[in-house]
Amino acid sequence: MDRKDFIKNAFALGGLALIPIGIAESCRKQSFTGPANVNFTLDLSNSANSALNTVGGALVANGVIVVRASAGIFDALSATCTHAGCTVGYDSRSGNILCPCHGGTYNVSTGSVISGPPPSPLTKYTATLSGNILTVKS
Ligand code: FES
Repeated sequence: MDRKDFIKNAFALGGLALIPIGIAESCRKQSFTGPANVNFTLDLSNSANSALNTVGGALVANGVIVVRASAGIFDALSATCTHAGCTVGYDSRSGNILCPCHGGTYNVSTGSVISGPPPSPLTKYTATLSGNILTVKS
């Protein structure tokens, strides 16, 4: 193999090596988002929503995880992990939102990433209680 062939082969191999890097990079940049235009209510007198009658209780409805933070304060965030789209859950021991797939951890109040691979925060929604009716909106 002469010098010209060597350079040509090395360039071809280098080009091939860049393909998986490019694929990995495009996967890394993909981010999953939660539902848009959220607007629904939960009746807390309904037994299906009883988890929200206890501070630290949580449930997932319409792609949103709702957590009762205190007597009158609720946190509502997208239930879709921004890393690869797994459904997140609330960990009452740590007080954080956790992703079971790769260990992503989010702040329950803000949705910001605390640790792990998620590239962006969870979308946050408003949750307002009036009587027994909790309204969750974008
Ligand atoms: S899908 Fe949630 S951390 Fe990977």
